[in-house]
Amino acid sequence: MKPHTKILFVCLGNICRSPAAEGIFKQLLKKNGIEERFDVDSAGTYGGHAGELPDRRMRAHAARRGYNLLHKSRKIRPEDFDTFDLIIGMDDYNIDTLRSLSPTPETAGKIYRMTDFCEHYPADHVPDPYYDGADGFENVLNILEDSCEGLLRKLSE
Ligand code: 4NP
Repeated sequence: MKPHTKILFVCLGNICRSPAAEGIFKQLLKKNGIEERFDVDSAGTYGGHAGELPDRRMRAHAARRGYNLLHKSRKIRPEDFDTFDLIIGMDDYNIDTLRSLSPTPETAGKIYRMTDFCEHYPADHVPDPYYDGADGFENVLNILEDSCEGLLRKLSE
């Protein structure tokens, strides 16, 4: 594993999926006692919720699994492409936007798809739960728990 890895999770609004991914991954690092080897953050491609805590539905569903989501939403910034080693999008739309924002082909090489790290869930994207009911939020958390574990395993190889 690299001595220090910087990971940015990205979705659209940065109030549902990516702050949940950030919270789940940070908890996994804590469980393994390796928090100091990572910087973990999240951002959105859309800045309309900047400064807000995660959506209250996502906070409630995450809290039931022991995750306390306190990230404040922010829009992705050009310098994020230099700062972070891995920039992980949740769906095609996020990934297309990230590619269009990437300043160079080298920084575009840092862009990954969250579900590529899934080991058990057969998902090909993390669906936007914003207009869904409780099942949508639970589905997102199931996919994210699986993919966060897969991501850490990949980075530990
Ligand atoms: P997220 O969910 O991208 O997972 O944070 C959404 C949050 C807000 C909106 C869309 C998706 N919105 O349109 O405001």
